[in-house]
Amino acid sequence: MEKVLVTGGAGFLGSHLCDRLIASGADVLCVDNFFTGSKANIAHLQNNPYFELMRHDITFPLYVEVNAIFNLACPASPIHYQHDPVQTTKTSVHGAINMLGLAKRTRATILQASTSEVYGDPEVHPQTEDYWGKVNPIGPRSCYDEGKRCAETLFFDYHRQHQLAIKVVRIFNTYGPRMHPNDGRVVSNFIVQALRGEDITVYGSGEQTRSFCYVDDLIEAMLRMMKSPANITGPVNIGNPVEVTMLELAERVINLTGSKSKLCFKPLPQDDPKQRRPDISFAKSALQWEPKVTLEDGLKATIDYFRRTI
Ligand SMILES: NC(=O)c1ccc[n+]([C@@H]2O[C@H](COP(=O)([O-])OP(=O)(O)OC[C@H]3O[C@@H](n4cnc5c(N)ncnc54)[C@H](O)[C@@H]3O)[C@@H](O)[C@H]2O)c1
Repeated sequence: MEKVLVTGGAGFLGSHLCDRLIASGADVLCVDNFFTGSKANIAHLQNNPYFELMRHDITFPLYVEVNAIFNLACPASPIHYQHDPVQTTKTSVHGAINMLGLAKRTRATILQASTSEVYGDPEVHPQTEDYWGKVNPIGPRSCYDEGKRCAETLFFDYHRQHQLAIKVVRIFNTYGPRMHPNDGRVVSNFIVQALRGEDITVYGSGEQTRSFCYVDDLIEAMLRMMKSPANITGPVNIGNPVEVTMLELAERVINLTGSKSKLCFKPLPQDDPKQRRPDISFAKSALQWEPKVTLEDGLKATIDYFRRTI
């Protein structure tokens, strides 16, 4: 049986990944320091004999025996990663060094949850993997963006220098059940505000676009990436290329929740990208993957979740 380590396993994406790995018959070790994750996300797995939870901060070394590592630990929303920016960089950089060291010792294949933020405020649309990005190195988002960029560098240096089996996925905005209700990400923000009948906060004019991938599609891509041939290291963009403006998203959420909320406009935060859309041609050809869940269906499932939990 495969022993799989998931760092950040009690978070939004990590908990869905643990579910899929357990369902596929893996022996899962979930490591989390519960900074943004919660026991509630994995409570349903706690009695499973093939699921083990360890409270640990990956900025410290970890000695365990595993065959595969999914490195997801890192706060992902600006509110959370800007709360303690030094710790955010440490989690990305020291965390990557520690997990790569573990992979080197155990000869495990290691997957890094990187991000579309490595492209910064991009000058090309959509972004392909060979675009190097336009990132501010000293702004409030830099702890996350540059931390993730440095982690990618470390992954490729371990691959070149130590022949480590690496997989790097660049995740674009993903949404779904178990998102943190107060992390300021737009889908959860809009849904929670609509369900509470509060004004829906739109930043800027609302004309800026994003593309949203439903969590089940994302996890499928991660699993395919981990199982892909050794020559496929990535980086590979994973996301949904269908673009939607923030105004359209707000309208859809209002319609699907039947809310009476009105829109309220606030200034755009610093370094907020105007447009972000993945080019997923590489994922399509290398992993035979593309997203299947429509925005409508994904929003319905996410709204159901928030109705039950808030
Ligand atoms: N959700 C997205 O849209 C998205 C987009 C791009 C990249 N990602 C990446 O995917 C990963 C998971 O994101 P998420 O949306 O599930 O976020 P999340 O905040 O829900 O999950 C992150 C998890 O990591 C844990 N964690 C944070 N620092 C840690 C540390 N030092 N040691 C151990 N555990 C730690 C948190 O407690 C949490 O459980 C992150 O690496 C994030 O950068 C997510």
